[in-house]
Amino acid sequence: MSGLIPQHFIDDLITRADIVEVLGRRIPLKKAGREFKACCPFHDEKTPSFTVSPAKGFYHCFGCGAHGTALGFLMEYDHMEFVEAVESLAGMMGIEVPREDSQRPARRYDELFELMQKVEQHYQQELRKHQPAADYLRARGIDGATAKRFGIGYAPSGWSHLLDKFGTSTEASDRLLAVGLIIRKDNGKHYDRFRGRIMFPIRDSRGRCIGFGGRVMGQEEPKYLNSPETVLFHKGRELYGLYEARQAIRNIERLVVVEGYMDVIGLARHGIDFAAATLGTATTDEHLNRLFRLSDEVHFCFDGDRAGRAAAWRALETALPQIREGRQVRFVFLPEGQDPDSYVQNDGADGFEKALDQSLALSDYLVEELASQVDMKSLDGRARLAELARPLVNRIPPGVYKALLIERLAESVGLAAPKLEAILAENPSKPTLGAGRGGLGGLRQKSKPSAGKPSIVRRAISLLLNNPDAAGKLDIEQLAGVSKPGTELLRDLIETVQSEPNMTTARLLERWRTHEEGRHLGKLAAVELPVSEDFDAAAELEQCIAQLKLAGKRERVDFLIEKERLRVLSDAERNELRELGQGSATGG
Ligand code: UTP
Ligand code: MN
Repeated sequence: MSGLIPQHFIDDLITRADIVEVLGRRIPLKKAGREFKACCPFHDEKTPSFTVSPAKGFYHCFGCGAHGTALGFLMEYDHMEFVEAVESLAGMMGIEVPREDSQRPARRYDELFELMQKVEQHYQQELRKHQPAADYLRARGIDGATAKRFGIGYAPSGWSHLLDKFGTSTEASDRLLAVGLIIRKDNGKHYDRFRGRIMFPIRDSRGRCIGFGGRVMGQEEPKYLNSPETVLFHKGRELYGLYEARQAIRNIERLVVVEGYMDVIGLARHGIDFAAATLGTATTDEHLNRLFRLSDEVHFCFDGDRAGRAAAWRALETALPQIREGRQVRFVFLPEGQDPDSYVQNDGADGFEKALDQSLALSDYLVEELASQVDMKSLDGRARLAELARPLVNRIPPGVYKALLIERLAESVGLAAPKLEAILAENPSKPTLGAGRGGLGGLRQKSKPSAGKPSIVRRAISLLLNNPDAAGKLDIEQLAGVSKPGTELLRDLIETVQSEPNMTTARLLERWRTHEEGRHLGKLAAVELPVSEDFDAAAELEQCIAQLKLAGKRERVDFLIEKERLRVLSDAERNELRELGQGSATGG
């Protein structure tokens, strides 16, 4: 991990490094058009298939698939560790690597936490000064006490409020940069990340502010802007509102996981103090660890829309390995178009508690969802149910819970439990697609995309990595509700490119180096794309996004039609289907 080398230094280094020079000192490169070629140093070959692109800062071997940035090359070729490679590259360029208090990292973190606290207070003061912001909160039903409890603030519009107040020295602006509150331009100048937004501080388990979410008050895009991943803030680990819940309730009997900041706050406003939100990401293992540490009963209550239902199914998949006796995982499905915030505003705390009481146990959700995907009246359909259940059931740790679930499934399938157990233990003849693949949309088994043809998401990521400039104008809201694997990563990449100027392929790859997805990104960057003069990457990308949006819609239509066929379509869903232009004329 880069640890104490500031990210912006690595950004700059990789932007400025001349990959041709770095590699050219070690292997003989030959110019070939806009690129350079060589015999690959990582495998034996007679004809050169190793290509270096100076514009992208990226190398790739078509023979063995080796690929990476200048830093990656030093690590592979010279067998260096990451920090060594950074130092070596900086040395070649005559730059010194800034080291931030490497002897006293603890102290440095203290300084960052202190800064976050000051900024949080600053935003709160600004809220008091900006009547329209206060009015906005009131209009959304947030009273003063709730606003105070969650430390809600306001970041006025303008490019340098934080910079002017907290970033007056190089060290100070480096700290602002480290916590993601300012953005660095390529000319070395900075500007405030959050402008003209209602600010929600995100706290760690000790109550320290580690990041922010910021909401616009009007219709601008994006609706919410979040702190980027920093040394303090890891989205996949944090839950918004969990600290506040622990402050409010001594012994938390149950926890509700919701999607958004406003869901947590709206519920708290009505006395439901035990909600926490995932921060625009899917529920992770780490989220669940933290939740189960506080309570044995976890309810997932996502928005009543396609994205919310897909998120619920994914949460189920993630929760399976953590289920055991004594733990309860339950699911609340809100009416179409509602989210927890709107629901509690309409139906009050009692109504919401009632919805919690009527929530679906994980085992029921699993069986009902799978049953809805097959024809339960036919023998084939029930056999198919067992197939679909296999990969899911196998993720549950052995124990009473698993045994009971198998019994339950056996009953649905019409088999004796031991017989079903034997079937479940068999190796699947072919990989089975979990129902979650397309969210709930994948009701019917779809044939797998043919090998060789990349998925739209992969193609979009390849295009974006190779042409970061092309993503400037994309509207990521179009991806809301699309549940294809990788969509979140695509969103994150687009957001990064849009919020930081002059992004390059190499810089994106280095930014994701320590992420789990980082490994795939290199491969996707190395995908061969057309190189013709009139290749318009921006148009291609836009087309991918449009296709994804359409695919999302199609999944939804399929899902609704299937529900209609099974005669379990709600009125709201019937209307939705009609709006999507696919409704059947007859009532159900
Ligand atoms: P929603 O769009 O459901 O927002 O996104 P919401 O919580 O209902 O907010 P209001 O009521 O419109 O104000 C749910 C969550 O997804 C993340 C945020 O964490 C948000 O709370 N999100 C959404 C983003 O990070 N960026 C966006 O542009 C939109
Ligand atoms: Mn919502």
